Amino acid sequence: MKLSQRAKNIAPSATLTIAAKAKELKAQGNPILSFSAGEPDFTSPRAACDAAIEAIKRGETHYTANSGIIELKKAVSGYYKTRFGLDYPTSEIIVTSGAKPLLYETLQVLVDPGDEVLLFAPAWVSYVEQINLAGGLAVSVGTSGSAFVPTRDEIEKNITSGTTGMIINTPNNPTGAVYDERTLRMLANVALERGLWIIFDEIYERLVYGEAKHTNILNVAPEIRDRVILANGVSKAYCMTGWRIGYALGPREVIMKVDDIQSHLTSNASSIAQWASVGAINGAEADVERRRGEFEKRRDLIYGLVSGIDSLHIQKPEGAFYVFIDVRDTPISDDIEFCQRLLEERHVAVVPGAAFLAPGFLRMSYACSEADIREGVSRLRVFVDSL
Ligand SMILES: Cc1ncc(COP(=O)(O)O)c(C=O)c1O
Repeated sequence: MKLSQRAKNIAPSATLTIAAKAKELKAQGNPILSFSAGEPDFTSPRAACDAAIEAIKRGETHYTANSGIIELKKAVSGYYKTRFGLDYPTSEIIVTSGAKPLLYETLQVLVDPGDEVLLFAPAWVSYVEQINLAGGLAVSVGTSGSAFVPTRDEIEKNITSGTTGMIINTPNNPTGAVYDERTLRMLANVALERGLWIIFDEIYERLVYGEAKHTNILNVAPEIRDRVILANGVSKAYCMTGWRIGYALGPREVIMKVDDIQSHLTSNASSIAQWASVGAINGAEADVERRRGEFEKRRDLIYGLVSGIDSLHIQKPEGAFYVFIDVRDTPISDDIEFCQRLLEERHVAVVPGAAFLAPGFLRMSYACSEADIREGVSRLRVFVDSL
């Protein structure tokens, strides 16, 4: 069968090899500890589950408006007003089946073949594939020399007349970096000077720790509102990954086109999941804050433990739920080989940095119990000492 060039061009996820191997070893009865998940281990809040059950009982089981139910758009609008002081009417909001399709649809709206889109590496690999699927070119701007935060110098080296936009992700997956106001102001200036659009992916915005503070780019640069699409959703903040609800806020003409694309792709997001999200946004604030506190304790634990391993280097993450570890000073500087051997020899699954445009690193999620963190890092230490 002839496959499309598009299909041939899609790179398989670098995490797949590790995930498949982990499964195989587990099936053989090995005590696998996995730190590869990109999702909170907590269950969804009571308020979300109750709202979903009520919706089913009411018979909310039909197609909804393609762009989402008005109740959820109002909840999102209210949330953005309260949390960031931003005014978005419901006509500038769309609800999607998770943030992933929302990013895909938005890129389909914004990217023409050959357009260059800046990504700040380490970056989430789906951005790259989604830009490719739109015919664009992902341009990786390095940040590992600057505490995983973009600098103007690095951007200048990579920007060309073909650059049309950038994707910003703060708090960041995989590094846990949280961009400060100065950085966001600089990025806004670049967008203004060069006429670029910005997709601002703030899906981890509720997960910041210590002194760190998440800033919405429109709070430091309100004048770029007409070129920014805010991407968010319930997956991470409300521990609702399985419900598949994302939302975008942006200029009406972009949102309308995203709506058009969605109408031919998924249609509306699940009606029940939309009602669950209304329940979460309106009724789960206390859960969000309590769980954030739990993640902060785990962050401190894993950071302390990994910092104690000599040849590994780690920067304290300020947000999300990952640590990004530099393994280049160990005898196995190749991250894929490192992860494969760590899995085979010590039964610990982590994700190679290559999956995030950052070879030589590995990502470990701490969305798991403290006992697993202690045991996992202990195995990591034994592995490194054995090299
Ligand atoms: C940076 C980032 N953006 C977006 C998403 C998509 O989230 P979802 O599709 O679950 O809403 C993820 C999930 O891992 C992510 O890490």
